[in-house]
Formats: sequence, structure tokens, C-alpha cells
Amino acid sequence: MKRAFVIGHPISHSKSPILHGHWLDELNIDGTYVAIDVAPIDLPEFVDQIKSGSFIGGNVTVPHKEAVMTLCDKITATAEKIGAVNTLWLEDGRLIGDNTDKYGFLANLDQRLADWDKEIQNAIVLGAGGAARAVLVGLAERGFQSIRVLNRTSDRAQSLCNALNKVFENKPFVASLLSDFNKLAPHADLIVNTSAVGMGGTKFQDLDLSLAQTHTIVTDIVYTPLETPLLADARQAGLRTVDGVGMLLHQAVPGFERWFGARPTVSSTLREKILGAQS
Ligand code: ATR
Repeated sequence: MKRAFVIGHPISHSKSPILHGHWLDELNIDGTYVAIDVAPIDLPEFVDQIKSGSFIGGNVTVPHKEAVMTLCDKITATAEKIGAVNTLWLEDGRLIGDNTDKYGFLANLDQRLADWDKEIQNAIVLGAGGAARAVLVGLAERGFQSIRVLNRTSDRAQSLCNALNKVFENKPFVASLLSDFNKLAPHADLIVNTSAVGMGGTKFQDLDLSLAQTHTIVTDIVYTPLETPLLADARQAGLRTVDGVGMLLHQAVPGFERWFGARPTVSSTLREKILGAQS
């Protein structure tokens, strides 16, 4: 039997076992996927267990996404760019680390709004924390020419932009403050929230979505609640919106395929199951 895992600390909130369990049943695969609480101090020992063959691979979540990179034998180019690993697998006894969050973010938009990237130029990204990096790399790779990173703390946005501009020749990233939003909104083709604001229904102050153009798309990687106050404001302003739960579902696809050898689909049944499991 093939065994996979998700590790984090804490980990009880993770929806990944339901997600992968659904696919294992649907595809009739003899495998398991379990959540394991691993404290930071125990991470090296857990990695040794993987390398000794106890698991075929698994997912890594907070707070291990960066720390695990030093314990891998190889990091993919994508994980290197993003600076974090969320998916592990063994290849000829070597532990490989990848990052599928960028794929998950883009695949969610591709599935929900097929033509979203047809004529794109300018993006606004809210937040400059760990979750922003995968989104920023994804947007630059899809061809956005100008990506404004708006953060409450300007230093953090600036250092993130500096680091990522070294990776992309056209240097698309520009740091700004959240308070610049209303000035920049009329030029944005896409607005993405990657910050913690929205969780539990919290709201940004003074962002005026009605200043955006009618073609502007607004998406949020926060999915608790499914319609965050930002998405609700965007909908009320007549803009197209995409909620964030699909990023969670899609980011899981490449890992499952690698561990269990079959590519699963992100169906509406799965989406409803995960939404129903929200605590
Ligand atoms: P993650 O790894 O999930 O991105 P993080 O690294 O703690 O988490 O980053 C959280 C992001 O949400 C940051 O951009 C943070 O802004 P700061 O860098 O200024 O701290 C942003 N954030 C959190 N609470 C916020 C709030 N009340 N208003 C505005 N931004 C907030």
C-alpha cells in the first residue's frame, strides 16, 4: 500500500486528508493519506523516516515550508523561485521538493474563468507574506507586465519585490502601500488578495472596488468565508470574482498524481465536499 502524508504544526485543521481520501476512493487506489503533527524540532527525524521508505511522499504546510528545503536532496526550479516547498516525493531514494501552490492558483482561475488571462497587463496583489510568493511568480510567468505588491508594511513588500525582480528579466514587481490601492485600482486587470485579511470575515479599510474597470477580475486566496468581504464588495461593484477554495483543490493534483500514479480531477462534488467540511 502506498502511504502519503501532510505534515504541519498544528495540522488538525487540514482539509487535505478529505481531499486525497476522496480521490483514493474515486480512483479505487490502494493507498493512504494521513495528517501528522510534526513539531519543528522533529522535522529532521521525520524526513529521515521518509527517506527510509516509510512514505512515498506528501505535503508540507506551515511552519515547515521553508525549513524542509534544506533537508531535501533536490529542489525543483519552481520551488526555488517561490522559496518554499509544499510537496515531497522520493525519486531513486532521493527526496525531491516542489511547490504546487503556483499551479493551484493559476489552475483555479483557468477552471473558473477560462479567458481570464487573455488580455492582461497590470495586477494588484494585496499582501507580501509567504502566500504571496507563489501567486507573484505565477502572475509573472503568465505575462503580467506590471505587478503592484501592496502591503501594510512597506519594507516587507519592497524586499519581496527586490528578491523576485532578480528572478524575472522584465522586473515586473513594484512595491506600494495598501493606502495606494484607490489610486492604482482603475488600471488593474486583476486584483488578488494573498494577505490574512478576509479570514473570519475581516475587512480591509478604505479599499474602493468601484474604482476598478468593469473587466477587472478579483480573486482571494482566503476561503473562510468562501465569499470574503473583498469578494462581496467586488461583486457588488459588478466585477467578476473567483473564490479561493479551488486553489486548495488544484494545488493537490500534481502531488496525488506523482504519489499514486493517476491524475485526479477537481469536480464540483469534491468542491462541495470540502466546503461542507469547513468548521
Ligand atoms: P502567509 O505566509 O500566510 O502569507 P504571513 O507571512 O504572516 O502569512 O503574511 C500575512 C500577510 O497578511 C502580510 O502581508 C501581512 O502584512 P504585514 O507584512 O504588514 O504584516 C498581511 N496582514 C495581516 N494582517 C493584516 C491586517 N490587519 N491588515 C493588513 N495586512 C495584514
